[in-house]
Amino acid sequence: MSGQVLVTGASGKTGKSLVGLLKDRGVPCRAATRGGEPAFDWTAPETWAAALEDVASVYLVAPPTVDDPYSKMIEFLKVATREGSRRFVFLGMASLPAGGPAHGQVHQWLKDNSDDWAVLAPSAFMQNFAEGSHLATIRDEDRFYSNTGDGRVPFISADDIARAAFALLTGRATGEFVITGGEAISYDQVAERIREACGRAISHARISTEELVARFLKRGLPELTARFLAAGYETIAAGAHAQTTDVYSVLTGARPTTFEAFAEANAQVWRRAG
Ligand SMILES: NC(=O)c1ccc[n+]([C@@H]2O[C@H](COP(=O)([O-])OP(=O)(O)OC[C@H]3O[C@@H](n4cnc5c(N)ncnc54)[C@H](OP(=O)(O)O)[C@@H]3O)[C@@H](O)[C@H]2O)c1
Repeated sequence: MSGQVLVTGASGKTGKSLVGLLKDRGVPCRAATRGGEPAFDWTAPETWAAALEDVASVYLVAPPTVDDPYSKMIEFLKVATREGSRRFVFLGMASLPAGGPAHGQVHQWLKDNSDDWAVLAPSAFMQNFAEGSHLATIRDEDRFYSNTGDGRVPFISADDIARAAFALLTGRATGEFVITGGEAISYDQVAERIREACGRAISHARISTEELVARFLKRGLPELTARFLAAGYETIAAGAHAQTTDVYSVLTGARPTTFEAFAEANAQVWRRAG
């Protein structure tokens, strides 16, 4: 492949793992972060040209804390195409299809304007419990909160998403790839598995959608993002998004990480946080 891979969200859950894979396999890449050199910021278009120099493919991660990053991403995609980038792999969301709000806008733009794109649309990440949104309350209150009731989710490891993104960035497959872990489990079952791995009495606290929105806002998410995320989680309670797919195995030839293996690997994080 001539030209580098630009990895946005390179300090985030999937991005840092993807940069590691690209480096290990000798694929030239540039990690785009606000603190990097050159700095890359979705909200500062003057930082885009330097990041895009000699870039053939781009991994696109919408930053959750930026208010409406999607229109900025579409502007960026226009610049990237003009500057010679050809292949785009976008980290979407299984619950937000093309043409819909938020991630769906970027997905639709790629469909309409590029002939070399892939959207990886994952279910919720296992890492939300070990480094993401739920870790703080696990640490401080021995519990995590959701409005998902008994709904089940085929949680996927961010490292598996990175492996799938690697396959897509270095391959030619195009289209949408709804990627999940191998087993759908409830948030009560997640608490059980974390408990078994780390020995602390962790539980799942059931809250309403409005309470969840309030928690997201307190964490600094923009209001629109807080509302569509909470509404997305509410549909889990109703049984949506429990389906697993074989996309991970098809793209990588391997089996997805199980929640037990993830919990075992992260037991120290939860023990230390106790
Ligand atoms: N977590 C899940 O369960 C889940 C499930 C499905 C889809 N997704 C999607 O995955 C994406 C990533 O979510 P995440 O929670 O896992 O976050 P993350 O990738 O772990 O972290 C966000 C990344 O965005 C970067 N960032 C933030 N503001 C930026 C800015 N102004 N300019 C450039 N980079 C910026 C951060 O880098 P710096 O702060 O270092 O600049 C960080 O690398 C989101 O679009 C989310 O909707 C997440």
